[in-house]
Amino acid sequence: TDLAHIRNFSIVAHIDHGKSTLADRLIQATNTVSNREMKEQLLDAMDIERERGITIKANTVRLEYLADNGETYVLNLIDTPGHVDFAYEVSRSMHAVEGSLLVVDSTQGVEAQTLANVYQAIDADHEIVPVLNKIDLPASEPDRVKEQIEDVIGIDASEALLVSAKSGIGIHETLEAICHRLPAPKGDRAAPLKAMLVDSWYDPYLGVVVLVRIMDGVMKKNDRVKFMRNGTVHQIDKIGVFRPAMRDVAELGPGEIGFITASIKQVRDTKVGDTITHEKKGAEKPLPGFKPSIPVVFCGLFPVDSAEFEDLRDAIEKLALNDASFSFEMETSAALGFGFRCGFLGLLHLEVIRDRLEREYDIELITTAPSVVYHVYMKDGSMQELHNPADMPDMTHVDHIEEPRIKATIMVPDDYLGDVLKLCQDRRGIQQELTYAGTRPLVVYDLPLNEVVFDFYDRLKSVTKGYASFDYQMIGYRQDNLVKMQVLVNDEPVDALSMMVHRDRAEMRGRAMCEKLKELIPRHMFKIPIQAAIGGKVIARETLSALRKDVTAKCYGGDATRKRKLLEKQKAGKKKMRQFGKVDIPQEAFISALKMD
Ligand code: GTP
Repeated sequence: TDLAHIRNFSIVAHIDHGKSTLADRLIQATNTVSNREMKEQLLDAMDIERERGITIKANTVRLEYLADNGETYVLNLIDTPGHVDFAYEVSRSMHAVEGSLLVVDSTQGVEAQTLANVYQAIDADHEIVPVLNKIDLPASEPDRVKEQIEDVIGIDASEALLVSAKSGIGIHETLEAICHRLPAPKGDRAAPLKAMLVDSWYDPYLGVVVLVRIMDGVMKKNDRVKFMRNGTVHQIDKIGVFRPAMRDVAELGPGEIGFITASIKQVRDTKVGDTITHEKKGAEKPLPGFKPSIPVVFCGLFPVDSAEFEDLRDAIEKLALNDASFSFEMETSAALGFGFRCGFLGLLHLEVIRDRLEREYDIELITTAPSVVYHVYMKDGSMQELHNPADMPDMTHVDHIEEPRIKATIMVPDDYLGDVLKLCQDRRGIQQELTYAGTRPLVVYDLPLNEVVFDFYDRLKSVTKGYASFDYQMIGYRQDNLVKMQVLVNDEPVDALSMMVHRDRAEMRGRAMCEKLKELIPRHMFKIPIQAAIGGKVIARETLSALRKDVTAKCYGGDATRKRKLLEKQKAGKKKMRQFGKVDIPQEAFISALKMD
C-alpha cells in the first residue's frame, strides 16, 4: 500500500469510556470480520482481561475502508493497554502510530486516565480527534464535555465527533475522520530497514510473535534480520497482518504494521522499543527512545501447600515466557518455606499474574506484602537495591535510604475533596497542585510509592464511593527517614511480615499490625506475645491470651456428625496455616495485617 493511503492510530480513553466497544464497531463497519465471527470485545483476548474489563496486551488490527471519496484506505488500529502499570508499552505503541481517537464518555467527562493517556499521545506528536461517546444516553452532555476537553487538556474540541459506539451512531463519521483528519505515515522504502518492535508475546503454535511497525525499508519472508538491542540475528519464518486473525502477506513496507515470527524462543529476547533491521546493509543507528521496562513492585509468592513448590516453579516459568516485564528468583522464608520473589510493573500487573497462577495453574498462593525497590546507601559509598525488607543490611553500616516517589493525579467530585486530601496527607503526600477541570477538582500529589502500593487505590475508591479517578507516574528517588520494622510472634521474628516504614509512622503501623494479628491468629493453648520492633527496640505489643479447654468442649456438645464436620473444617483450615515456631499463623494474616484501615 502506498503511504498516502495508510492511517495508523490508537484509541485513548479512561477505563469504561467505550474504547473496546468503539474498536468492535470499526471492525464491524469495515467488514473485517463477518457478523457471525464478531464477538463482543473482540480485541480483549484473554478471559481474565474480559472479566476485569481491562485490556492488558497491546493488540492490533488492520482494517480496509472504502471512503466516501472512492479511495480505499488501510487503517491500522493499535489497541493500547489503558492501565498505568503498562505506561511504557503505551508509550511505545503511541510512537508506532500518527494519530489518536480520544474517546471521552459524554456522560462523565475527562478522567485521570484520559489525561495520562492523552499526554502520551501529545508527546508522540499525534493528531488527535476527540470522540464524545455514549451520546445515546439521556445523561450525555456533549457541550459541557467539549468545553472540559478544551479547558483541561487544551486541544480543540469544536469538531469533536458525536458517537454512540453501542448503537452505531457516528461510526461512519469516525472512519471518515480517521482518513481525512489524521496524517499519513512517512517513511522511505529505499532506505535501510528500520522496524520498531511494538510488542511481542508467546503463541503455543508459532512461538514468539513480534508486532512491528516499519519506519523505513521493506521486510520480507526469509529475510535475515537483526535485533539491534542485543545483536541477535533471526530468519523471518512468517510475516503477516491481523485482520484480526493472522493473515500472511508478501512483505511489510514503510508505514505498515504487522507481525513476524522468526523461531525466537523467549519473549525475553524481544525487548519492546527495540529496532529490527537487516543483518546485511542494515541501519547504523537504532530508533531513539528505547528504555527497558523495569519492575517496581516486588512481593513473595509461596505455595500454600509446600508440596506444590515445583508446580509453582513450572507455572511461573511458563508465564515468564510470555511476559518479559515480570521477574522472579527463588526465595526462602522461615515462615513460608520455599517460594519466589517476583517483580512487577505495578500492582495491577501483580494481581494479574497472581490470579493467573491461581486460576490457570490451580495453585493456592500466599502473597507477601508488596514492597517497592529501595536504594540503600552504605557508609562505604556503595548502593544496594533492596527488593525485600527481609534482606535489609544492618543499620550500623547504612548511611541513608532513598525511596521511589510518584506523581499522582486524582480527579474527584467536590464533595469528596476533603477526604482525598486527608488520605494523601496521611500517606506522606506533598501537594503539588489543586485546580479545577471544569467543575471537578484535580489534585496532583507527590507521594512515596510504598504508601501507594498496598491499598491506596482501594482506600481512594472507598472514601470517594468510587467517584475518584487516579493515575500515577514514577518521578524518581528521594531520601527519607526509613527503617525496617520487624514483627515477632511468640518472640520469634516473622520475616514475611517485615516491612520498611517511615520512622514517624512506625509506632502507628506497628500498633495497627499487632492488633490485626491478634485478631487473625487463633488462640493457642499458651499465651502468645505479638510485638513490632525496630532493631532491638519493641515499639508495639499485644498479647493473645491462652485458650481455655472447657470452652471448646462445651461448643462441640454431643452431636457426633456436627463434631466430625467441625473437625474436618479444622483440618482443612490447618492446611492453610503456617506453623511458625509453635504458632500457627493463618495465610490471610500475611496480607491483611499490612492493610491499614
Ligand atoms: P476497558 O477495555 O475496560 O478500558 O473499557 P473500554 O473503555 O474498552 O470500555 P468498553 O468498550 O468495555 O465499554 C464500557 C461499558 O460502556 C460497556 O458496558 C459498554 O457496553 C458501554 N458502552 C460503550 N459504548 C457505549 C455507548 O455508546 N452507549 C452506551 N449506552 N453504552 C456504551
